[in-house]
Amino acid sequence: MRIVIAGAAANILSAHRRGFDAVDAQVVAVQDINTQRAQAVAAEFGARFHHDVDALWAEDADVALILAPHPFHAQMAIAALRAGKHVLVEKPLAVSVAEGDAMVAEAERAGRMLAVCLQQRMRDEVVEARRLIAAGFLGRLLRADLLATWPRRRAYFDLAAWRGTWRGEGGGVLINQGQHDMDLLLHLAGSPARVFAKTPTRMHEIETEDSVQALLEWENGALGSVHISTVEVDEAQRIELTGTRGRLRLTPGRLVSIGNDEDFEDFRAAQGGAFDVPGTGEPRAFEGAGGDHADLYRDWAEALAGRRPPIASGADALRTLELANAIQLSGRTGREVELPLDRKAYSALLESLRSAAGAAR
Ligand SMILES: NC(=O)c1ccc[n+]([C@@H]2O[C@H](COP(=O)([O-])OP(=O)(O)OC[C@H]3O[C@@H](n4cnc5c(N)ncnc54)[C@H](O)[C@@H]3O)[C@@H](O)[C@H]2O)c1
Repeated sequence: MRIVIAGAAANILSAHRRGFDAVDAQVVAVQDINTQRAQAVAAEFGARFHHDVDALWAEDADVALILAPHPFHAQMAIAALRAGKHVLVEKPLAVSVAEGDAMVAEAERAGRMLAVCLQQRMRDEVVEARRLIAAGFLGRLLRADLLATWPRRRAYFDLAAWRGTWRGEGGGVLINQGQHDMDLLLHLAGSPARVFAKTPTRMHEIETEDSVQALLEWENGALGSVHISTVEVDEAQRIELTGTRGRLRLTPGRLVSIGNDEDFEDFRAAQGGAFDVPGTGEPRAFEGAGGDHADLYRDWAEALAGRRPPIASGADALRTLELANAIQLSGRTGREVELPLDRKAYSALLESLRSAAGAAR
C-alpha cells in the first residue's frame, strides 16, 4: 500500500504509524503547511515533501491519507479521488453533510474507495454487540442512550488555533470529540428519525458547543438520548440499548448483556399476577480489546484487496455526520429536526455561525 499524506505533521500521525507498520504500508510523499515538521516526517519515512497539495495528489500512490483539520477534509478528499486515489480520511468525514454528500458522490463517480477513521468500530466488544443484535438478542429496540465525557482543560484548546472555532473546526463536541461515540450508537441502533437538542457552551472559552444533550426518536418509536461533554468527569463512554427481549451495556473494553426470559410483548399480554416482574437471565460480560489504528489499517488493506467493504465507508460515516449536524441545527434553532437532514438549512446555519464568529483565531 503506497500512501501520500496531507496534513502529515498532525498529532494523530502517531496512531497512523502503528497502522502503517501493521500492513507494511509505504509512505511515498507528504504535505503540510507546517514545513519544518512535515519535512521531518518526510525524512523519517524517506518520502518526498510537497508544499503544494496538488503536487501530492499527482504522486503515484494507491491511497491518499488526510490528517488536516476537518474543514479541509471535503476539498482534499474530492481532489484526491479525482486524481485516482483511494481516500482514507480522519474523522469526522467532513464538517457538513452537504460536503459529505459531495465526497461520497465523487468516490462513486471515480470508482475509488472512501473510508473514515472510525476505528472504534473494530473493538471486539462492539463487533460482539453487532453480532448479538443481528441475531435478535434485543428483540424490538425500545431505548438507546449514549453518555460520553471527554474532560478537557484549556490547554487542549490551546494546542491548535483551529480547535473550538466555527471557521477552523465547524463545531465542538459534536464534530470532534463525540464523533466516535455517536458513530457507535448509530452502528448499533441505526439512524434516528428526529432529534431535539440543547448545545450549550458551559465552561470553555470557545466559540463552539462544549456540551450537548439530545432526545432522539427512531422510526419504530424507540426513544434515546445523546449526552456528550468536554466539561464533565463521568464514564468515558457508555451506550445502553434496551429492547423487548434483552439489553446491552457497552463501555470501553466491556459488553454486558442480559436477556429476558420472554419477549416483553408476550409477557405483557400473558395471564398472570398484576405485579409479576419478568424473569431475566444472569448478566453475561464480554471483555474486549482492539479498535485502534492498526486494526483499522488491517481492515483497510482487506478492503483495498477487494475482499470486503471498509468497516466505515464514507457513505456509512455520513450518517454520523448527519446526526451531529441535526443535533447542532436543533440546538441552534430550538426546534425538533427531522432526518434526512435538510442540507441547505444546515449549510446556511453553519455559514451564519462562521460569519458571526469572524476571523479564525
Ligand atoms: N481517529 C481518531 O481517534 C482521531 C484522534 C485525534 C484526531 N483525529 C482527527 O485528526 C485530524 C487532525 O487532528 P490533530 O489533533 O492531529 O490536529 P493537529 O492540529 O495536530 O494537526 C493538524 C495538521 O494539519 C495541518 N494543516 C492545517 N491546515 C492545512 C492545510 N491547509 N494543508 C495541509 N495541512 C494543514 C497542520 O499544520 C497540522 O500539522 C482531525 O480531523 C481530528 O478530528 C482523529
